[in-house]
Amino acid sequence: MEHNTRAAFIRQMLKDERTIEPSPEFSYKALVKSRQDYDELYRRSIDEPEAFWGQMARETLDWYRPWDAVEEYDFDSDKPFVRYFRGAELNASYNCLDRHLDGPRRNKAALIWQGEPSEEVEVYTYQRLHREVSKAANVLKGLGVKKGDRVVLYLPMIPQLAIAMLACARIGAIHCVVFSGLSAEALKDRIVDSGASVVVTANYGYRSGKILQLKGICDKALEGCPQVKSCVVVRRIEKRTVMEAERDLWWDDLMAGASPVCEPERMESNDPLFVLYTSGSTAKPKGIVHGTGGYLLYATLTMKYVFDLKETDIYWCTADVGWITGHSYLVYGPLANGATSLMFEGVPSYPKHDRFWEVVEKFGVNILYTAPTAVRAMMKEGERWVNGHDISSLRLLGSVGEPITSKAWMWYYSAIGQGRCPIADTWWQTETGGVMITSLPGAVDMKPGSAALPFFGVAPQVLRPDGTEAAPNEGGTLVVSRPWPGMMLGVYQNEAAFKDVYFPVPGRYLTGDGAYRDEDGYFWITGRIDDVINVSGHRIGTAEVESALVSYLQVAEAAVVGCPHPVKGEGIYAYVTVKEGTVINDDLRAKLVGHVRESIGPIATPDVIHFTAALPKTRSGKIMRRILRKIAAQETEDLCDVSTLSEPSVVRDLIRETKRLS
Ligand code: WTA
Repeated sequence: MEHNTRAAFIRQMLKDERTIEPSPEFSYKALVKSRQDYDELYRRSIDEPEAFWGQMARETLDWYRPWDAVEEYDFDSDKPFVRYFRGAELNASYNCLDRHLDGPRRNKAALIWQGEPSEEVEVYTYQRLHREVSKAANVLKGLGVKKGDRVVLYLPMIPQLAIAMLACARIGAIHCVVFSGLSAEALKDRIVDSGASVVVTANYGYRSGKILQLKGICDKALEGCPQVKSCVVVRRIEKRTVMEAERDLWWDDLMAGASPVCEPERMESNDPLFVLYTSGSTAKPKGIVHGTGGYLLYATLTMKYVFDLKETDIYWCTADVGWITGHSYLVYGPLANGATSLMFEGVPSYPKHDRFWEVVEKFGVNILYTAPTAVRAMMKEGERWVNGHDISSLRLLGSVGEPITSKAWMWYYSAIGQGRCPIADTWWQTETGGVMITSLPGAVDMKPGSAALPFFGVAPQVLRPDGTEAAPNEGGTLVVSRPWPGMMLGVYQNEAAFKDVYFPVPGRYLTGDGAYRDEDGYFWITGRIDDVINVSGHRIGTAEVESALVSYLQVAEAAVVGCPHPVKGEGIYAYVTVKEGTVINDDLRAKLVGHVRESIGPIATPDVIHFTAALPKTRSGKIMRRILRKIAAQETEDLCDVSTLSEPSVVRDLIRETKRLS
């Protein structure tokens, strides 16, 4: 019921929607030129998935050994599973590097790195990247890392992060990248859960002109990880760094002595390539496991089609490699396609609000892939920041991470795309490995705010609570009814979670998002329907923030919900009750905020801490989050059904307090 009203609300907001056709010039040169071409490819991918994916796999990747079966899965049983290309062998780093070395791509820029300080730029040709990755692979081997071992990478946006990922892939080690904005405690949890024995970090990092103490954070995390034998440290900034003898080693020292020759390991298609942690409804994030063959094929193919990739494109994905978008569309997708991928260490607003446009102009960026939160932030600062720059090299724009409102879409389209560049809205998730629903540029008409149509092989459906399919324009739960090659293989060390979280409804993969499909078959994503908040395109589990809050001595109870936020999309609103005798003041509020930042990281900073005497509960003692969400959003007129509450006066108090807080 609740997301139905939300869907209706969003639909109403978008009444001013228009359908925008891609320009004939773009379509003419596009990989998929028309709706008809898309329909044909899509039909085939659904009607004959084995033939379709088999052909794509042969054409797209290099294999050492062919498969015994293309697609095997079971979504119905107690032990759901999915497997692509069983028995086939390949290596992801070989596909991203070695195979490009025979022809003219050898000297093409694979990775262009722009540091936060403007003057810091590095270019890695495919040849150079191959050499560095091979050396790093030998370094890891030298530290005793073997096939199947986990390596945690806690690095900022520097080339060594991509190099270390590919080095792991080369020797069959499983990388586990931890976003460099996460705290020591969050890092420790991930190191422990993954069972890694080697961690790679940097001594420091830059963020908006400030220096991040990455090695210090890592040291703190490692206090709780006795199994970690080696910590390799990249010298990002020349600055005194405390190194622990026996455990800590400089990346540069190890690389200097490493051989540039390293034979890639032959991996079975379903051997894990990486584990990436993401938030869900539980207090602890889950390690999403992706395989090698299926994932790489899906990342490579979606990259090629969704971004209509051309050989000479300069492609820029602004996401951090610490998230799935950076994995699939900054590292694996672009490199497997032999493209030029730009990696940017900075932020859109530093030193000034024109940083993105300065970078676009400097490198002649053709494709820009960013998030609605960045678009909103720039829109707020105004078009004048764009005007001083020549950004006419842009030919295609992408959006990912959260629903983009039609207003932000139109600004992106007109101010940045100058009415010329199609926008590929891309709906997908850490779990899906690659783009699932998109407005395939050049091929399909765009509707601002709609992620549009499914990618090849993807079969999304909108379901009613009773499991039947929703009618056009009727809101429901977004599920996927058959597998696709990029699909996660499981949850690391937690077989039960795969079934419980993703297959509570037998036969369907549950996305956790709400959606509706309009009369033209276009999908409109209405946001998460589980206890996940989408803050600036980052997933934050409400349970994670609550558990951080209640671990503070004076806190009795906490309930966390999302609230509307003009730039971040959603903000974090925390209701807190304190223990007897605690003095409530701004100091306590600041301490609590600091405590959450320490426990998770700055991305989980609560926007509002609402101290209250009691939380609304049902008679059976369950916190009524639906009501708390409404109060946080100040939508209190229709708080109709409070009849199940044990003490209705609690709600009145909360409403009064919220008015005072805002
Ligand atoms: C949301 C990021 C609407 C959605 C790739 C999803 C989106 C979650 C879009 C996954 C989009 C992502 N339109 N919502 N184009 N893209 N989302 O795992 O709620 O960090 O479930 O993966 O982001 O976030 P994740």
